[in-house]
Amino acid sequence: MRKNFGARPYLYPQPVLIVAAYGEDGIPNAMNAAWGGIIESDKIAMCLGHRHKTVKNILEKGAFTVSMGTVSTVVSCDYVGIVSGNDEPNKLEKSGFTVTKSEFVDAPVINELPMCLECKLVSYNEENSQLIGEIINVNADEGILTDGVIDSQKLQAISYDPVNHYYLKIGEAAGHAFEEGQKIK
Ligand SMILES: Cc1cc2nc3c(=O)[nH]c(=O)nc-3n(C[C@H](O)[C@H](O)[C@H](O)COP(=O)(O)O)c2cc1C
Repeated sequence: MRKNFGARPYLYPQPVLIVAAYGEDGIPNAMNAAWGGIIESDKIAMCLGHRHKTVKNILEKGAFTVSMGTVSTVVSCDYVGIVSGNDEPNKLEKSGFTVTKSEFVDAPVINELPMCLECKLVSYNEENSQLIGEIINVNADEGILTDGVIDSQKLQAISYDPVNHYYLKIGEAAGHAFEEGQKIK
C-alpha cells in the first residue's frame, strides 16, 4: 500500500542555498532558498519571491552568490531564512555571517560558508518567481579540499526536509555514480 499526499513541493534532497547580494548602498544581504538546482552546465535556477530584499538586490546589481548551508552554520542559515532585510537592515551582521567581495562578480562571498557559486543574473520572471543565473566561478575554502578537490564529507552540507521542516546532514557515499550500474548493464 502507498499513501497519496496530493500536489505538494516534496522532494528529497532539497538544498539549503544561501543566496547573497549587495544592495545599492553596498550593504550585503542573504536569504535561504530550498527551491533551486542546476539546469545547465553553467546555469542555476531558483524560485525566489520578488518581495525578498535579496531579489531586489540581485535585480539592482545583476549578480549574486549561492553558498551551501552547512552543519556548523545551521543557526545563521535558518536566521537568514526567517528574517527579511526589508525589516532588519543589519540582518547579515546579526546572522553572524561576514563577507568578502567576490573576485568575479559584484556580490558578497560569505566567509563562513566554505563553498560558493559566483553568478551573474541571466533572467528573472516576477510572475513565476523564476530566477536564472550563470555560474561564473565556483570557489571553495582549502579546508574542505582533499587532493585539491571539493570533499563533500568535509563540506558537511545540509539539506532541507520539506515535510518535517528539519535540516538534515548529508550522509556518506552510497556508491559510485556512473559505475554501480555497470554491474547489471
Ligand atoms: C528552509 C527555508 C527555505 C526557504 N526557501 C525559499 C525559497 O526557495 N524561495 C523563496 O523565495 N524563499 C524561501 N525561503 C524564505 C526566505 O529565505 C525568507 O523569506 C527570507 O527572510 C528572505 O530574506 P530577504 O527579504 O532578506 O531577502 C526559505 C526559508 C527557509 C527557512
